Amino acid sequence: MKFYVDTADVEEIRELSETGLLDGVTTNPSLIAKSNRNVFEVLAEICDLVDGPVSGEVTATDRDGMVTEGRRLHEVSENVMVKVPLTWEGLKACRILNQAGIQVNVTLCFSANQAVLAAKAGATVVSPFVGRLDDIGQDGMALIHDIRLVFDNYQELSTEILVASIRHPMHVLEAAKIGADICTVPPQVLRALATHPLTDTGLEAFLEDWKKTGQNILGET
Ligand code: E4P
Repeated sequence: MKFYVDTADVEEIRELSETGLLDGVTTNPSLIAKSNRNVFEVLAEICDLVDGPVSGEVTATDRDGMVTEGRRLHEVSENVMVKVPLTWEGLKACRILNQAGIQVNVTLCFSANQAVLAAKAGATVVSPFVGRLDDIGQDGMALIHDIRLVFDNYQELSTEILVASIRHPMHVLEAAKIGADICTVPPQVLRALATHPLTDTGLEAFLEDWKKTGQNILGET
């Protein structure tokens, strides 16, 4: 499973990228707004830090506008994957950008039928939003299951499933069990994946016992 981090906070990305665990980054207009920074500067800095796809989202809503914006975002770096919404116009833009050799992330996917259309339009990845479905009382993970099932029925659909709108570690585990290709995870959830109370108490006990020995691995006893 590949891990992307879902943020436009460059300092967070810098810190997380030191683990070597980041395979990519996703941003969206809301995350850029939250950063209070220029979209091109943010994308350029992220591309310098992470050696993988960095999603930057268009804000036009018509095909030609999306294509023009997508090309402009892609000028920042080869790593920029252009994000377009899963609308009829977005699907048309996806096809054109894909034919131009630009990677496309089709976002705001809420049904398996939408995912199939994105795949047929040449999406590199499709982003189903699990948390937002859970928020309205639907089963976000059931959607991931359905998309995996359908994509596996048709080998010609090579689009990867990028699980988005992840809220907690159980979403990541469930996505991995289903066999989703990528999870884009908020920084705090990514950190939570590495923590366990028994790890903390276990380490504390080891260090207490070690102190009693009076030894020092790097120095004299
Ligand atoms: C994915 O690319 C989106 O940026 C993101 O996962 C949306 O998550 P949210 O529902 O928490 O805003």
